[in-house]
Amino acid sequence: MSNIDKSKLPSHIAIIMDGNGRWAKNKGKARVFGHKNGVESVRQVTEGAAELGIQHLTLYAFSTENWNRPKAEVTALMTLLVTTISKETKTLNKNNIRLHAIGNLDNLPNLAKKELLSSIEKTSNNTGLNLILALSYSSKWEITQAMKTIANKVKNGELNPEEINEGTIQSNLCTAQFPDPELLIRTSGEHRISNFLLWQIAYSELYFTPTLWPDFRKADLEEAILSYQQRERRFGKTSEQLETPTNA
Ligand code: FPP
Repeated sequence: MSNIDKSKLPSHIAIIMDGNGRWAKNKGKARVFGHKNGVESVRQVTEGAAELGIQHLTLYAFSTENWNRPKAEVTALMTLLVTTISKETKTLNKNNIRLHAIGNLDNLPNLAKKELLSSIEKTSNNTGLNLILALSYSSKWEITQAMKTIANKVKNGELNPEEINEGTIQSNLCTAQFPDPELLIRTSGEHRISNFLLWQIAYSELYFTPTLWPDFRKADLEEAILSYQQRERRFGKTSEQLETPTNA
């Protein structure tokens, strides 16, 4: 932690939490055991991000595609979500963490949605870390929704197609109120984006680690941030331009 440059922290870190099933299988247990242990990693990483002063942390907790998993696993994940959120809301408040959710929340079971909205409401005055859960989320769904909203505005005469720019699209995504992540982490050795924040990660630094999610701890988060801090972010420019930005 001492090696982290606090003046160069990413303001937004997004994480694809992967490997719960394999972690459980390695131990001869059912997949759900992996998810249950993954909750401790969520706790650790949230606490670590808050301690460091990260402003936004987005966790891919359940994708649109995850609805296709065996029914028992889906139910177990939803139950875990409800119990974790109801148990942890007090801790979120104690740590000044504000909960948000992105995704097609109408698809969640009633109880899960109710618990989620209640925790979002109860933490809405907190000013520290913004913890954003991606639930029933997929980027293609999100972009499609944005396109529909924009198309309706055009249809109703509220928007001229000539005026559509990147800002129009950005402001119609679920993440409109958040900055794009500077750092995207994926655990478990997979090198895929899996329909996560496709628009928002256009210039994100990608960090892949073989660590399975239930083993991911604060130290692993710090390692990812250190790797990020050692990279040069050029946004399409040359290194020389970055050194002398005024006459670039
Ligand atoms: C991916 O591992 C993980 C998930 C689909 C679920 C993530 C959920 C949690 C960590 C627990 C609940 C979260 C909150 C925020 C309360 P996988 O099952 O795809 O693992 P595998 O690739 O090894 O099969």
